[in-house]
Amino acid sequence: MARVFVTRQIPGAALEELKTAHEVEVFEKRVSREDLLKRVRGVEAILSMVTERIDEEVMAAAGPSLKIIANYAVGYDNIDLAAARKRGVMVTNTPSALGDAVAEFTVALVLALSRRVVEADRFMRAGEFRGWDPNLFLGQDLTGKILGVIGLGTIGAVVGKRLQAVFDMEVVYFCRNRKEAFEAETGGRCVPLEELLQIANVVTIHVPLALETRHMIGAKELALMKPTAILINTARGPIVEEKALRVALENKRLWGAALDVFEVEDARAATGLRELPNVILTPHIASATHQAREEMTRLAVNNLMKALAGERPDNLVND
Ligand code: GLV
Ligand code: GLV
Repeated sequence: MARVFVTRQIPGAALEELKTAHEVEVFEKRVSREDLLKRVRGVEAILSMVTERIDEEVMAAAGPSLKIIANYAVGYDNIDLAAARKRGVMVTNTPSALGDAVAEFTVALVLALSRRVVEADRFMRAGEFRGWDPNLFLGQDLTGKILGVIGLGTIGAVVGKRLQAVFDMEVVYFCRNRKEAFEAETGGRCVPLEELLQIANVVTIHVPLALETRHMIGAKELALMKPTAILINTARGPIVEEKALRVALENKRLWGAALDVFEVEDARAATGLRELPNVILTPHIASATHQAREEMTRLAVNNLMKALAGERPDNLVND
C-alpha cells in the first residue's frame, strides 16, 4: 500500500477502487498552498487538479518517496516538468477522456456567440421583449463560412470535423505538422497563423499553454481578424492577451469572443470583459460532463496505479 494524496473530491467510481488498493487522502475542498505542502509530505503519488501549481517546492515537500503526479486534465502547464524530470517523477495527464466534451462545448460557444443566445436570454429575463422586430439580435451565419483552428490536436480535430460536417464550414488550421488524415476527411488546409486570422470567420484555440503560446493572440493578431469574426478560447487563458482582446472588442475590431479560460482564474477573472455585451464567459467548464469527468478519474487512477505497480502509465507526458 502506497500513500496517495488526491487534491480534491472527484466524480466516478475509480476513486473508490484506488482507496481499496492504497492509503488515500482526498482533500474535500480546494486545497490551499499551505495545506498542499503539508499533506504531500512522504506520499508516493499525487493526483492533482489544474488549480494546483505542482512545482519544485511541492515535489521537495513530498520528498524522495514521490513517484508520480497524475494530473486530472489534458493540459499540464500547472506542473513543472523540468523539476519532475530532475527528480525522476512521472507525470501523466488524461488526454482521451475529455476530447468530445471539450469539442462539444466549443461548438456550443460558437453557436451561442454567433446567434447571441446569452444576450437574448438576458434581454428576455429583463422583461425587454416587445414583440418580433426585424433588427433584433442579428447574428452571424456559420454555414459555408471559414473555421480557423489553432492547434489541431485531438480536441481541435474534433471541433474541425464537427463544424465541417454540420455547417459545411471550410476548415483551415495552424499547427506544427500537417495532419493528412484530417485533411482527407474534412478538406481542411494547413495555413500560416497570419493567413488563418485574416480569412477565418470563427477562430478557435486548441494549443497547450507553453512559452511559445503565451499571449500568442495579442493586439497584432487580433488586428488581422475580420471585424465580423469571433474568437473562442477553451484551451488556456494566458494564450490570449485579455487586455488587447478587450480593446479589440470595444473598438469593434472583432465581432465577439467566448472564453471558458482566463489569464487569472479566481474572483478577478475577466474583470475587463464582464461589461461587454458581445462576450460569453464561462467558468472553465468545457470538460464538465458527467461522462468526461468520470472517465478522467478512471484514467488518472489507472495512470497512478500503474506507476505505483512499477509499470509504465498509459499517459506519461515526461518520457
Ligand atoms: C482542463 O482544463 C484540462 O486541461 O483538462
Ligand atoms: C420569424 O418568426 C419568421 O417566421 O420568420
